[in-house]
Amino acid sequence: MSRMPFVAGNWKMNKTVAEARDLVPKLSVQLREVANVEKVLCPPFISLFAISSLLEGSDIGLGAQNMHWEEKGAFTGEVAPGMVKEFCNYVIIGHSERRAYFGETDENVNRKLRAALKFDLTPIVCVGETLDQYESGRTSEVVRRQISLGLADTDSVNARGIVVAYEPVWAIGTGKVAQPEQVAEAHAHIKNVLRNLQLDSVKVLYGGSVKADNCDKLIQLPGVDGFLVGGASLEVDSFLPIARAGMD
Ligand code: PGA
Repeated sequence: MSRMPFVAGNWKMNKTVAEARDLVPKLSVQLREVANVEKVLCPPFISLFAISSLLEGSDIGLGAQNMHWEEKGAFTGEVAPGMVKEFCNYVIIGHSERRAYFGETDENVNRKLRAALKFDLTPIVCVGETLDQYESGRTSEVVRRQISLGLADTDSVNARGIVVAYEPVWAIGTGKVAQPEQVAEAHAHIKNVLRNLQLDSVKVLYGGSVKADNCDKLIQLPGVDGFLVGGASLEVDSFLPIARAGMD
């Protein structure tokens, strides 16, 4: 793998601020030895302030799990890009749970992505097919559509900083990991779609039940530049081996 691997932990709706304050110092001591890997934590919004001070001076990045595309205004319950930027350098956009439970569309994803680039946040854009789409052989078509609509109208110089996470929806939180051949095939397809958009340098992560016992194999696959980790990012012992898998 030629580029610096990227490993992000998506805590989803887990951990209170108190729990985060307990976990992050332990994690950060252990992650110190994981060199040459871009490491990012994505906790709930409410913990960003506390964690950003705990991470001061460390090489661990901080990301939000979502944001609105508008800069401010009457959007009760939402968080604006500039607010995220106060604490973070990354933001997850278009996670399949946002698409499934909160009705996010590729158009919303595109608005958020452009807002992220404007605010100099690295967007981690999630794509992936549902079980139904997978079983009907539509993975390539679905992922191509998500990328072309999600990344539409981005200036290609800025867009080079984007990170794409391929997460087959049926593999998220289910313990079902896609077979290595499926992952390699999907990543080759995504790289090809990105190449056609002149975005060859965009990293493509894999996500979906990544664990200590499958990460070594997955990171060896061509086109896999790192991981977006959910459940296994919630404890030091389960996250550390995954971050280490990127080391060489
Ligand atoms: P999981 O979640 O590792 O728990 O499957 C991955 C994700 O949703 O980003």
